[in-house]
Amino acid sequence: MKRYGFIGYGNMGRAVLLSLLGKDSIAPDKVMVYNRTPDRLKELSASYPDVVIASDPPKIARASDVLFLCTDSSAVLSVLEDLSPYIDMRTHVVSINGGISIEEIEARHNGPVSRVIPTIIMTSGHGLTLITHGCRVPLAMQMDLQALFQRCSKVKVLAEDDLVRYTDLTSCAPGLLAMMVEAFVQAGARSSGLPLKEVQEVLLETLVGTASILAKGSESTHGLMEKVATKGGITEKGLRVLEMELPSTFDHMFEATRKAR
Ligand SMILES: NC(=O)c1ccc[n+]([C@@H]2O[C@H](COP(=O)([O-])OP(=O)(O)OC[C@H]3O[C@@H](n4cnc5c(N)ncnc54)[C@H](OP(=O)(O)O)[C@@H]3O)[C@@H](O)[C@H]2O)c1
Repeated sequence: MKRYGFIGYGNMGRAVLLSLLGKDSIAPDKVMVYNRTPDRLKELSASYPDVVIASDPPKIARASDVLFLCTDSSAVLSVLEDLSPYIDMRTHVVSINGGISIEEIEARHNGPVSRVIPTIIMTSGHGLTLITHGCRVPLAMQMDLQALFQRCSKVKVLAEDDLVRYTDLTSCAPGLLAMMVEAFVQAGARSSGLPLKEVQEVLLETLVGTASILAKGSESTHGLMEKVATKGGITEKGLRVLEMELPSTFDHMFEATRKAR
């Protein structure tokens, strides 16, 4: 059985590892983890005592068949450079970083390299994980990596150039959608005078039901708007405001994320 190394256990390293362990994609006794701040790993050790917590990243690099780089952007390449003397050429290096290219990683590791762009909502068994492989990754290795993530999310395998067209809609979207919910809740509380907590609970129930109907395809967005907004009614008035103001807000949002790349 393959051994998996994780360097970095921040928000995303944690989400990926707990999702893979939670869906039995990987066995705890085949996992080694290093985090610069060891305290963050206490919860992992308590839940999965068989996971090896290593204080020495080279030890993980030497022993891993698949090595996940889960540090923040500023550290990915320097961490890889430090570890590269210890990484076997056959080790599959997988970066979860959104901005660093396969070429940049291959310049520091002579073996197979893939990128996985996960989404924080994979912990709920939902969301889309994006995967792209470098030219040195044999087909069997590609399939193995994809299979790991297929247990805890949907998977889309893309050419690297296409990743940027999807990431706003997959890995960034949970944060962006949370902001939309927050603004909806705050305005709903201001308008209704109800407590924030109450407004959030009610809105989330409505949101889950709406998403479920749309995801099933039993109703389109336009069909739902038409059915709810009776002519001259209250919803129609609200929709007119959103129709005027939302498209430009979303255009600005995508412009900002595009410029940040
Ligand atoms: N958050 C998302 O939704 C998301 C989605 C897709 C991809 N990603 C990618 O996931 C990666 C991690 O992001 P995150 O959201 O998990 O960030 P985060 O919560 O801030 O975690 C950053 C991680 O990097 C480690 N780190 C930072 N500098 C380091 C250094 N110099 N040496 C060793 N370790 C270092 C941190 O260790 P300490 O605990 O010691 O600080 C921590 O484990 C990024 O590359 C990001 O592009 C994130």
